Amino acid sequence: MSRQHNFSPGPGVMPTPVVEAMRDAVWELEGCGQGLMETSHRGKAFVAVHQRAKARVRRLLKLDDDQHVLFLHGGARTQFFMIPMSLLQGGRAAYLDTGTWAFQAAEEARRFGTVDVPWSSKATGWDRIPQDKEWSVAEGTRYLHYTSNNTVAGGQFHHVPAVPEGTWRICDASSDILSAPVDGSAFDLLYAGAQKNLGPAGTTLVIVRDALVQAANRDLPKMLRYDIHVGKDSCYNTPTTFAIYAIEQVLRWLEEDVGGVEAIAARNEAQAGAVYGAIDATPFWKGKVQPAARSRMNVTFTTGDDALDGTFVSEATAEGLLGLKGHRSVGGLRASLYNAQSDESVAALVSFMRDFERRHG
Ligand SMILES: Cc1ncc(COP(=O)(O)O)c(C=O)c1O
Repeated sequence: MSRQHNFSPGPGVMPTPVVEAMRDAVWELEGCGQGLMETSHRGKAFVAVHQRAKARVRRLLKLDDDQHVLFLHGGARTQFFMIPMSLLQGGRAAYLDTGTWAFQAAEEARRFGTVDVPWSSKATGWDRIPQDKEWSVAEGTRYLHYTSNNTVAGGQFHHVPAVPEGTWRICDASSDILSAPVDGSAFDLLYAGAQKNLGPAGTTLVIVRDALVQAANRDLPKMLRYDIHVGKDSCYNTPTTFAIYAIEQVLRWLEEDVGGVEAIAARNEAQAGAVYGAIDATPFWKGKVQPAARSRMNVTFTTGDDALDGTFVSEATAEGLLGLKGHRSVGGLRASLYNAQSDESVAALVSFMRDFERRHG
């Protein structure tokens, strides 16, 4: 079987030139005489890759000089506890509850202080995203945490929530980082597991402002201290060299082949528009999220009949359209359209949806 249309929610589809570069680098990294996974993270060849990756992140996210770029282990879930463990210390934080990942991040934070949830759409299946006027944070709130894209339910913030002076803005952007222009300097801490828009699983991009690093609890195991990771430039322990190489390649592709974040945003909007257009065209399909909150990364939908959704997934798989099953916690269908998704695969999906409806509608 050869590579097929990939709608996987993550690890997700990667750009073809990146996969090809990875294949070559596994054999030999950039003329250094050693394979990517066989060369030291302190050697000249890998250090150059690491520094280029950081520089690309800085450019693409328009970061300030006082923001550090880290590549850490443990996935986004490690940030769920590392953030409150470092920054809460018995204080108060606010979490916007817009999806299962946001909910789980709040659960972890409760171990370390008071957690307010000023807004939640859990009761309606996380089908909405709040406007700023719908919530507020209590006096003395150290930080606001939100999840910019809700991978499971399929809702996405299309704005950056406002926070009052003195409250840090923290965002889990695991499933939509660099999918649309965003001012990275607006975040005091921004993190993203790599395996959707940045590269393979194994590394988490963490952008952290120096003031947070200075304020963070240091009475922690060294692997869980931001200041240690900043001081050692993500090399306190052996970094995920393979994943960091791939991220550098993905960001090179984004900057040089695609033409930057604005260009990828236009492509993402067109692709999501095509799938939502197919959903809205007929009552056979039902979108699962309120239109204003719809994600451009994870389109969730259903026929309204579990058995028919199951038939859709098996017929789609047989046609070479993979990864369309909804998350096990919510069921239904989900098409993930990360940055590397191709127009060709989206066209194949839309055409299959029309055909499926003709046969089963
Ligand atoms: C928004 C979001 N946050 C966190 C996670 C958990 O990431 P990890 O598996 O890297 O810990 C995911 C995984 O899908 C996610 O989509």
